[in-house]
Amino acid sequence: MSPLILRRLRDKFWPEPLPPDKSFEGKTVLVTGATSGLGLAAALHFATLGANVIVTSKSLTRGNAARDAVEKRANIVGQGKIHVLELDMNRYSSCLALVDHLKASPATRGGLDVAVLNAGIINAEYVQSPEGWEQTIQVNTLSTTLLGLLLLRWMKEHRPDASRKPHLVFVTSRDHIDPDIHDWPRWAADDGILRHCSDQKNWPSHQIEPNYAISKLLVTYAVEEICNMAMGADGSMDVIVNPVCPGLVFTSIGRAIAERSIFMRFAVPIYCSILGKSADYGARFYVTAACTSTTDHGKYIQSLFGEDEYRIAAFSNLKSGNALKVKALVWNEIITELKRAVPTL
Ligand SMILES: NC(=O)c1ccc[n+]([C@@H]2O[C@H](COP(=O)([O-])OP(=O)(O)OC[C@H]3O[C@@H](n4cnc5c(N)ncnc54)[C@H](OP(=O)(O)O)[C@@H]3O)[C@@H](O)[C@H]2O)c1
Repeated sequence: MSPLILRRLRDKFWPEPLPPDKSFEGKTVLVTGATSGLGLAAALHFATLGANVIVTSKSLTRGNAARDAVEKRANIVGQGKIHVLELDMNRYSSCLALVDHLKASPATRGGLDVAVLNAGIINAEYVQSPEGWEQTIQVNTLSTTLLGLLLLRWMKEHRPDASRKPHLVFVTSRDHIDPDIHDWPRWAADDGILRHCSDQKNWPSHQIEPNYAISKLLVTYAVEEICNMAMGADGSMDVIVNPVCPGLVFTSIGRAIAERSIFMRFAVPIYCSILGKSADYGARFYVTAACTSTTDHGKYIQSLFGEDEYRIAAFSNLKSGNALKVKALVWNEIITELKRAVPTL
């Protein structure tokens, strides 16, 4: 049996416990993409632990349904602790509008204690976003990074409680260790890595999850930069930043893959039922990430790998000489694009 399958089985049957005795009473938590799967489960965890939770959705109807479900299951109907805001990460303008709404909203009362950037997609077919990028790269990489930067700036300046550090959590994926980045310096010198991956003629339709692993590696590079930016002018840490992977969780994110063929329609649910864990278990990692201390700043919160195993598995994409070069190239492309779109960034 492959090591990955063994890891997934271990992950399924030894779930992450919720941090013991953790209370989020009086804290405000943002969860993006909270209408289904991991985001919905995370919103429920945080609400059950006492938090005021702001959930986002592309559609207010779906967002309101998620709010009603969380209120009912957390037994807090009528308490006004769950709030819904609109967010469509296909557009930068929607990311900017979300942050403006958060700043103005009485629900945030001066800031966020925790922001979990969870929204993400897998596409089976090539789709271009209105911003001109392949949609997986747009949502999982560019808009996630933009939101992260906008929130980081605000969270550094406005803390709901000066005595505790806010947490910024990026939901990535173990898949960031998979892409082969050897050719990326050449892509950078041609049209750019982001352009190369966004070009329809390079769409890897033969892959089960085209561009997904690449989008998660790109955002992992961005998160490393954002970790550095979370330090204050005096070298102390203003915001604790963590990337997190929930492990394989049976949610609707695989629906586009399941629709690719009759075989996949059966194979995806079977694979996910055997190896995938529940959204409740997966979302516990988000709570863990929201409770880290300053010494864990930047740490990748996950359970598939032991720390040494992860260091080895991630070496070629994160720490090798080529990886460091590629990371700098990617960050330069991402920040150039985001500053073009949002000059005030
Ligand atoms: N499931 C897994 O095994 C697994 C493993 C590792 C990492 N992850 C990551 O976990 C996160 C959540 O995935 P999931 O499995 O819970 O998937 P899911 O059930 O499909 O949920 C995705 C959420 O993202 C939102 N969303 C989709 N497109 C959006 C857009 N353009 N703008 C804003 N929000 C958008 C959706 O809400 P609306 O359509 O209502 O806006 C939905 O609530 C993703 O980042 C995924 O990559 C999942």
